[in-house]
Amino acid sequence: MSQQSAVYTHGHHGSVLRSHSWRTATNSCAYLLPYLKPDMVILDVGCGPGTISVDLARYVPQGRVIGLEATPDPLKQASSLAEEKGVKNVEWVIGDAHKLDFPDNTFDVVHAHAVTQHLGDPVQAFREMLRVTKRGGIIANRETDVAAMTWYPEVEGMREWHEMFIRASRANGGEPNAGRRLHVWAKEAGIDPKCITKTVSGWCYSTPEERAWWSDLWAERTVKSDFAKLAKEKGTASDEELERAAGAWKTWGNEEDGWFGIFHGEIICRV
Ligand SMILES: C[S@@+](CC[C@H](N)C(=O)[O-])C[C@H]1O[C@@H](n2cnc3c(N)ncnc32)[C@H](O)[C@@H]1O
Repeated sequence: MSQQSAVYTHGHHGSVLRSHSWRTATNSCAYLLPYLKPDMVILDVGCGPGTISVDLARYVPQGRVIGLEATPDPLKQASSLAEEKGVKNVEWVIGDAHKLDFPDNTFDVVHAHAVTQHLGDPVQAFREMLRVTKRGGIIANRETDVAAMTWYPEVEGMREWHEMFIRASRANGGEPNAGRRLHVWAKEAGIDPKCITKTVSGWCYSTPEERAWWSDLWAERTVKSDFAKLAKEKGTASDEELERAAGAWKTWGNEEDGWFGIFHGEIICRV
């Protein structure tokens, strides 16, 4: 799939940003934190609403973070957040992960969270991340592996939603099972496998508050975000199937013992 044909599956509807803006450095890039030094300059590729970028900026008080996004849509929220939190060492730029508009050897750390799974050419993105990282610096990437998502209890329609999610991501040019492939993409981009550390970590939503938040946003996201629009355009799901999936989310959200687990692959590349 060429990079031009990849479309970001979820878009930036409020229901999607509610999910992304829950993310912090601690819950989304704990594997990177031990490597950070106060004066580092970090590029956060595909920063979305910027909650991780703003959080990362606190770890580099004498350095700075540049949050890069393909579209201005989520950056208004990102810059409001930085302002609200009084974080001054973060800035926002528009760009494409496949062709970064920075000179070689610019950053101490290049980070991407939940981004390379959506790209038409993730290997090209790794080539670019490698090019703009200083020798001795770090590339860090963490991505979900959608096939490895799991939940309790089995609710009618959830399996269909899961299959629909995988179909939609592929139809839009991405790779939903990215988590297991990061080290391979990095190697194909020219990074020495001996310099790649692979780990996994997860998210778990199970308290009544977490269940309500996660099921409400998915019930809405399934019918109102770009996920629904693109699924219909690409023929991966009909209105009826999307409505059924939204209903399954509402049912799961009301399950007293409901539990949802999301598995992520992570890599640290020392370049
Ligand atoms: C799932 S969101 C992740 C946002 C953020 N990193 C986080 O974890 O909260 C993926 C983001 O990647 C952005 N994106 C998609 N394709 C991109 C590209 N080619 N270059 C830069 N950003 C891209 C999308 O616009 C979207 O905001």
